[in-house]
Formats: sequence, C-alpha cells, structure tokens
Amino acid sequence: MGTFAREIYDVVGIGFGPSNLSLAIALDEYGSEGPGRRSQPSAMFFERQPSFGWHRNMLLPATTMQISFMKDLATFRNPVSRFGFVSYLHASGRLTRFVNNQDFFPTRQEFHQYLEWAAAGFTDRVRYGTEVTGIRLPAATEAAAEAYVELEVRSGSATRVVFARNVAISTGLVPRMPEGVQRDERVWHSSEFLDKYGRMNPSELKTVAVVGAGQSAAEITRYFHDELPHAQVYSIIPSYGYCVADDTPFANQVFDPGAVDTYYFGTDRSREAFWRYHRNTNYSVVDDEVIRDLYRRSYDEEVRGLGRLHFLNLTRVARVKRAGDETRVSLLSSTDETPELDVDAIVFATGYDAMEPTALLGDLDRYCLRDEMGRHRVARDYRLLTTPEVGCGIYLQGGTEHTHGLTSSLLSNLAVRSGEIAESIIGRRAEPAAEPPLRRVVAAETG
Ligand code: FDA
Ligand code: NAP
Repeated sequence: MGTFAREIYDVVGIGFGPSNLSLAIALDEYGSEGPGRRSQPSAMFFERQPSFGWHRNMLLPATTMQISFMKDLATFRNPVSRFGFVSYLHASGRLTRFVNNQDFFPTRQEFHQYLEWAAAGFTDRVRYGTEVTGIRLPAATEAAAEAYVELEVRSGSATRVVFARNVAISTGLVPRMPEGVQRDERVWHSSEFLDKYGRMNPSELKTVAVVGAGQSAAEITRYFHDELPHAQVYSIIPSYGYCVADDTPFANQVFDPGAVDTYYFGTDRSREAFWRYHRNTNYSVVDDEVIRDLYRRSYDEEVRGLGRLHFLNLTRVARVKRAGDETRVSLLSSTDETPELDVDAIVFATGYDAMEPTALLGDLDRYCLRDEMGRHRVARDYRLLTTPEVGCGIYLQGGTEHTHGLTSSLLSNLAVRSGEIAESIIGRRAEPAAEPPLRRVVAAETG
C-alpha cells in the first residue's frame, strides 16, 4: 500500500564514498560555524551498498594508504574538525601508539575504520541499500520547475521520487576490462577481488594470473604469493618491469589544492604538461616498497631453486577462452608470439575509467554544456554548466580530470573540494522556491 510523502532537500548526494562523506561533513560544519543551525542546508545521501564500504574488495593485509593521514576528510579545510583522522585516533585510544609508529601512511584497514567511524556520525543523513537510478527535470508546468530536479531512488523493489535543489554526483571509478573479456567466477576484476577469491577453495587454485602493472596488480600478486604457497603465480605486465609511483615532494605538489587553480585556469599546454610529466604519480605505477618486496621474493626463489613467481613482461592479454572450470589465456608477448596459459583464476587489475555521469543524467544531459571534445563543461566550483532551463546545481565529485586535474578521482583534495562545493551551494541558495507537489510513493517507504 502506498503512502503519501514529500522529500525535498537542499542537497542530495548520489553515492556515499569518501567524497560525499567529506561533503556531508563540510555541510554539517557550515551549520555549526555559520550564523546558526537554521541556516544549515538540509542534505540526504543515497548509497547503494548495504553499509559504508571503501573498496572493500581490495582491503588486503598490510596494504597502506597512498596519501598522508592528514589528507583526511576534513583537515585541509578545517584543521580543528571533529572528523579529522587525529580525532578518530584519539577516540579509538590509539593516538599515542600511532605517533610512535612515525609513519605518515596508515594501512588501508585503519583508514577504512576511520571512514566508517566518520560515516557513523551521519546515519540520519544517509540511506544505505538505496540506489539513485535517474535524475530529471520536473514537468515544466510545475511551480519553480527550474529550481529543482527529481531523483528516482530505488531500495529493494521500492521506488520513490525525491526532490533536490542541488545534487552532488559521486558514484566513483568504473572498473575497466580489456575489450572482449567477460567477468565470471574465474575471471575477475581487481575491484571484486576478495569477494571472488573468498568463493574459491584455495587448494584448487594451482595456477593463477594477475594482469597489469599498477598498484592493484602488484598488491594482488603479492597476496597470491602469500596465500597460495602451493600455486604458480603469473604476473602479466605490459611494461618491462613495474614502474615506481613518484611521490617525491616536488612532484607531489600536483595534488596540492593550489594545483587545481593552476590546472583549471591554465592553458592547454600547461594542462598537457601535468599529464605528460606527472601521470606517473598515480597511473600504471607501484609503490617502491611493494616493487622491492616482489623482486626480493623472486630473487629468493631463484636462490632456493624454486620458481613459482613468474613475471611475463612486455606482455598483454589478447583473449580469454572459458569452458567449465578451464580458463585459457592467449597472450601477446614482445616476440609477437601468442603463447597460451591455462589458469584456475585470472585477475584483471587493468584499472578504471573515470566517473561518467551521462547515464545517470539521462534526458537531463541534453541541457549540460559540452566542450569542443564533447566533454562536460564544469565550473571551477565543480558545478556542471547547463542551459538556463536547469536552475538546480549539479556538482561532480569525480569525472573532472579534464577540467580540474589529477586529484579528481583521488582523496588528496577531498576536504578542500567538498568545502568549495558546500560554499557554492550555500552561496547560491536563494529564497526557497515554491515547493514541488506531494508525490505518491510507488511502493513501501524505505528507511
Ligand atoms: P567511491 O568509489 O569511493 O564511492 C562511490 C560510492 O558511490 C560507492 O560507495 C558506490 O557504491 C556508490 N554509488 C555508485 N553509484 C551509485 C548510485 N547510482 N546510487 C547510489 N550509490 C551509488 N586515492 C587516494 O588518493 N589515496 C589512496 O590511498 C587510494 N587508494 C585506493 C585504493 C584502491 C584499491 C582504489 C581502487 C582506489 C584508491 N584511491 C586512492 C582512489 C579512489 O578513487 C579514492 O580513494 C576514493 O574511493 C574516491 O572516493 P569517491 O567517494 O569519489 O568514490
Ligand atoms: P592502473 O594504475 O590504471 O593500472 C592498470 C594496469 O593495467 C596498467 O599497468 C595497464 O597498462 C594494465 N593493463 C590494461 N590493460 C591491459 C591488458 N590488456 N594486458 C595487460 N595489462 C593491461 O590501475 P590500478 O592499479 O587499479 O590503480 C587505480 C587507482 O587505485 C590508482 O589511483 C592507484 O593508486 C589506486 N590504488 C591504491 C591502492 C592503495 O592505496 N594501496 C591499491 C590499489 C590501487 P597500461 O599502462 O599499458 O595501460
């Protein structure tokens, strides 16, 4: 039986990963620092996972963060935020021991715990197990149609509509597989690694392969080597060897908040220089410590006359043929031969595509302006530029590498970016327009 409900928010966040969690904090702190709680924008975040989770399938033991703990959800925007990593350490009773560790880079497990701790502060403003399936303009006849958008929200079999004056899209990276390769119970992408691995009987994994030469590939190769002492482990890498992630201080400045302005207001030539010189701070690269660890293992095996860790360099995967439990991988090697490898499981750590909001925007996308290369035009405050029909602010957290640079998909600039978005939302807030009409909830209301 349907019930009547009306849900209208100043801000609706799509996805509740670190980006929108950081935005929730920025909006919350605006209310507490500003002229009074009443001025705080109302916000609701929808997250399709059943609970908070940050790349859970890659929470491998001992893997570490690739940014300093100070680049947390809030500190760079508000060093005295109660949602900073140091507050979390204090609350969990580990501040002193953490400091004794003398390490800027916590494990991913610990950072995940920090994110969960912060997310727990917003249970009243987030709906888990809830997916946003579409955004649209209200019917033109409705009052103030231009100041709102409608979002279709699905939870289980129930669908309902909510209204938003601003939307923050933060749906994350999209796993990328080589063309023609389908995922199944033995062919995995790294983003589903621990889940798929957990469904296997490890003793049956006698030959496994990992494709790619990025951080994910190196970490999974090492994990297989640890977890499957009986198995042959193949690492299929397109380069001659793993390349190191440049995290030296001068290069690391590309992740500074100030670099966003340099990129955004720069010339095509300066933007191109960011990518030409500094792609190796993040893509297809591996932390020095992991590279050295893998090399040491491989050398140690050679000394001991073993040989179960194999690096197939200058090699790419051409095809994967599946039949029952059998998986045959055709390789394209440097010698132009196409050797084949039979494996019990293969992991494609072949990276991700950037967030792309087009599908979610649906028909609304035709109101969004595009540049000469067909990419979305985005204002400095991360708002999609649209034709005047759209009065609602649609903000992107991710998918802005072409306009805002390398930090677009990363954590480094989250706190500052979320602050800029929150300020923009608050700054644009006009007198509330006429409210949209009551809507009938299609199925049972969700919590
Ligand atoms: P994220 O992908 O984290 O969150 C998006 C959320 O949206 C997801 O929870 C998803 O379920 C939800 N969602 C998607 N569509 C939805 C819909 N239609 N409706 C509702 N919910 C929806 N960067 C860095 O700077 N330092 C680091 O150490 C790392 N480490 C790292 C490890 C691994 C294994 C990966 C793959 C990536 C990193 N990164 C990183 C980069 C990574 O992009 C970054 O850490 C954050 O995940 C970005 O946070 P977001 O919230 O933008 O996306
Ligand atoms: P990535 O850096 O994009 O690396 C993908 C790799 O796959 C590249 O080496 C790519 O080679 C290779 N590849 C693509 N297609 C291939 C094919 N057909 N055959 C062989 N190789 C192929 O992706 P990632 O390692 O998943 O990293 C993504 C992001 O997550 C990065 O920001 C990274 O820092 C982050 N991450 C962080 C952690 C951590 O915090 N500990 C862990 C994992 C990942 P080309 O270069 O030739 O395309």
